[in-house]
Amino acid sequence: MSRAPSRVVIDCDPGIDDAIALMLAYASPELDVAGVTTVAGNVGLDQVVDNALRVCDLIGPPAAATPVLRGYAGPLARALRQPDEPVHGAYGLGGVELPAPSRAAHPGHAVDWTAGQIRAAAPGEFTLIATAPLTNVAALLHGHPDTRERLKEIVVMGGAAFAPGNTTPAAEFNFHADPEAARYVTESGVPLRIVGLDVTREALTPLADAEALIADGAPVTAAAGRMLSHLIDRYARRHTVRACAVHDALAVAAAVRPDLLEWTDAWVTVECAGEFTRGALVADVHGRTGHAPNARVASGVDAEAFRGFLMSRLRDRYGAARLAA
Ligand code: BDR
Ligand code: CA
Repeated sequence: MSRAPSRVVIDCDPGIDDAIALMLAYASPELDVAGVTTVAGNVGLDQVVDNALRVCDLIGPPAAATPVLRGYAGPLARALRQPDEPVHGAYGLGGVELPAPSRAAHPGHAVDWTAGQIRAAAPGEFTLIATAPLTNVAALLHGHPDTRERLKEIVVMGGAAFAPGNTTPAAEFNFHADPEAARYVTESGVPLRIVGLDVTREALTPLADAEALIADGAPVTAAAGRMLSHLIDRYARRHTVRACAVHDALAVAAAVRPDLLEWTDAWVTVECAGEFTRGALVADVHGRTGHAPNARVASGVDAEAFRGFLMSRLRDRYGAARLAA
């Protein structure tokens, strides 16, 4: 018997891998996406909202069924710091120009709207998937504390528990962008899955897959392939491989197929003060602090299975063969 789909909100900052994550989420019948909330991160909030609207138009869910909402334009406790390098291209989607959005953002605020969605669902039914700085999520848990008990879990793309960071030697971008928010969320008591660089950098999408998506030629697959090609180009300059991590899509995959990853239970927190370690995810895997685990940290991934999962979901839902059928 198939289970009812999990009701989810995706909090994101598109961003190429956020865009691929949205495509994957809407291609996954295990998820019932209530809406898309946005926060400043890879690019400024206005651009993030515009990108989210364009991506949602492209992948086709009707506007009423999948509202896009504006969230915070920067961290609440510090100044906004955007990436030094335009990893995602000037406008955040790797130079891929999608048609201007046919819809406007929902007039509500991302945080209050999400609280309403969680309250409207049965307790333990709702999952948040966060693929951006955790400003909105922290504001939700702080401003609407009753939602903590009602959430099934929060799946976070962020941090690097056992591996080096990608923004500083110690910190990953999403946690470094708003460490106070990341710390608040990790210590909130809500069940947490953390998908960090430890696994996202082990599950690379090769150029051959980007080229296959472009060759498929359907609007969504072609756009995904072109965005991934941009990211692979950027990645190759630093890592000398013709492949890229699609961090945020792995977080969506973790919500749908947690069995694609290995999980280590640990008490986790985020360093907010260190001169060189601000934004670092600290995972107490050996129980040295005496705190009970508050998170499941992804510590291994079946990279080939993820690669196949992502490609087949994108092709089956959006590919030319499906459109022709
Ligand atoms: C994270 O940072 C962003 O650039 C990506 O979209 C992803 O969410 C990876 O460190
Ligand atoms: Ca992101």
